[in-house]
Amino acid sequence: MNEIVAVSELKKKYISKYEELEVLKNISLTVNQGETVVITGESGSGKSTLLNLLGGLDSATSGRVFVNGNDICKLNEHELTGYRNRFIGFIFQFHYLLNDFDAMENVLIPALIRGDSYGSAQERAVSLLADVGLADHLHNLPAELSGGERQRVAVARALMNEPSLILADEPLGNLDEKNSLIVENMLFSLVEKYNKTMILVTHDTEVANRSDRRYLLEHGILEQM
Ligand SMILES: Nc1ncnc2c1ncn2[C@@H]1O[C@H](COP(=O)(O)OP(=O)(O)OP(=O)(O)O)[C@@H](O)[C@H]1O
Ligand SMILES: [Mg+2]
Repeated sequence: MNEIVAVSELKKKYISKYEELEVLKNISLTVNQGETVVITGESGSGKSTLLNLLGGLDSATSGRVFVNGNDICKLNEHELTGYRNRFIGFIFQFHYLLNDFDAMENVLIPALIRGDSYGSAQERAVSLLADVGLADHLHNLPAELSGGERQRVAVARALMNEPSLILADEPLGNLDEKNSLIVENMLFSLVEKYNKTMILVTHDTEVANRSDRRYLLEHGILEQM
């Protein structure tokens, strides 16, 4: 099996003037190509911290983080920007779409940054937006979309550069029950359709049950459930 994620002895401490907070004590995790892994845990247990370390948005205190064979602890800021663009598809609780760009442009921008031609990026963005049921909303601005539709654009954008790893941090957290189910179904079916690897943080046990493996993050330790 092809290992996409290999984390070992990962530690993260936040040190401020007044206190030292050891959020991640000794994390080990391996995720293979095509697997979906769910992480749950109480608020403040360090779930976002862990995803941010995997996505190269934050740096570890110690330990090793390999994603798709890249030792990301060794990358500098410039290399990390390229790493995130090429290998990682992020979906957060908030959509982070660019307000002045329409749905199609929001989805294709990562490919332009990667250096794709506008034509090929556009073709792919249109096809991904069709995958998330937004073929008729290509030219809507984020403000002209519903909350659920905006999050579906974010899902399409995360898949745009054919990422090795999708990191989804409570992507359904801001949605009502009906939209949450729609986005959840689209996310899982696209991950399957494109044989993607995903680490998903969620509080929803039904969503967790759709994954291949489930972990609980508690007291800085990641335990398989
Ligand atoms: N930049 C930072 N500086 C100092 N402490 C931080 C920083 N970021 C997070 N923390 C602390 O680290 C702990 C873990 O935060 P984190 O955001 O990873 O939790 P979480 O599990 O994602 O919680 P939630 O479910 O509420 O999103 C919290 O106690 C938080 O206050
Ligand atoms: Mg969080």
